[in-house]
Amino acid sequence: MFAVYAEAFSSDDPLSGLVVGERPDPTPPDGWTTITVKAASLNHHDLWSLRGVGLKQERLPMILGCDAAGLDEDGNEVVVHAVISEPDWSGDETLDPKRSLLSERHQGTFADKVVVPRANVVAKPPSMSFEEAACLPTAWLTAYRMLFTQGGLKAGDTVLVQGAGGGVATALITLARAGGLKVLATSRDEAKRSRALAIGAHEVFESGARLPAKVDAVMETVGRATWSHSVRSLRPGGKIVISGTTSGPDLDDAELTRIFFLQLQVIGSTMGTRAELASLVTMLDATGTRPLIDRVLPMMQAPEGFAAMADGDVFGKIVLTR
Ligand SMILES: NC(=O)c1ccc[n+]([C@@H]2O[C@H](COP(=O)([O-])OP(=O)(O)OC[C@H]3O[C@@H](n4cnc5c(N)ncnc54)[C@H](OP(=O)(O)O)[C@@H]3O)[C@@H](O)[C@H]2O)c1
Repeated sequence: MFAVYAEAFSSDDPLSGLVVGERPDPTPPDGWTTITVKAASLNHHDLWSLRGVGLKQERLPMILGCDAAGLDEDGNEVVVHAVISEPDWSGDETLDPKRSLLSERHQGTFADKVVVPRANVVAKPPSMSFEEAACLPTAWLTAYRMLFTQGGLKAGDTVLVQGAGGGVATALITLARAGGLKVLATSRDEAKRSRALAIGAHEVFESGARLPAKVDAVMETVGRATWSHSVRSLRPGGKIVISGTTSGPDLDDAELTRIFFLQLQVIGSTMGTRAELASLVTMLDATGTRPLIDRVLPMMQAPEGFAAMADGDVFGKIVLTR
């Protein structure tokens, strides 16, 4: 079948190991099902895989891609849940120490077909296109869990989203607005601040700027560059929910004194559960909110999408179609 896969790793030139070609058709193990992919979307995870982060040499060649929407074996329209837990794991699959994402241990979604455990599919509502649905399983699910599960946020609360241009950050802004929150966002870039307003932020600020009032929670994916500002922006008892460290994980000042004195909470968050993916899909169906798509490319042109992501030349999701 047609597939876009990693053949080799390179930290300096990740696209050099990317191949658009053919891979054998998958055979689903017992309890798994075959999904015909109609659309898939790119994540930074796919670039990291080409750099050899999170993917082992002995697993190459590996079809890339975590996110997909398509047709199940009965022709039903579905969204694929990317978190694969061990068969005997019960409960929150993000807490399974042996969990993986599609394309880490099992072949990914940038292909004609992908096989997943039967439980790893969620019905796609007719109101949502395959392209829109394909944006949800990684960045949007991560944002949903950060806001509503780990953050416990509800309508009327105030949230600050750091690094407005990011894939997770744009999802956070849009979902927070749809959930009735007051949304503040920061970006280093004037054009990205304007676009953040257009997708739902109430107010935008330069990175590091003093806010007019303290917030209930901060959503962090930037890390080192914004951490201190995040801690200083919280009201007493407020929460930082962190799911990434794009600018680096090491801190000059972790602001520990402020954290204990103001009784702040720091909460990690990774991906989400199948149940949260189903709630996210229902929320988008009910509110009419849709993921922001930067561009749609035929899967044959995947390298063009990878290059745009590597250059940071993106606002929203890059979708690949079959
Ligand atoms: N835990 C999970 O389940 C999960 C899931 C998805 C992603 N992630 C992680 O979350 C992070 C964000 O992912 P993404 O796909 O949203 O990344 P992204 O699209 O590259 O966005 C990162 C944003 O960070 C900001 N930024 C980068 N360097 C900065 C700096 N030096 N100073 C200030 N801001 C800076 C930029 O915002 P501005 O240009 O607007 O300032 C940029 O738009 C990554 O580390 C990723 O690995 C984790």
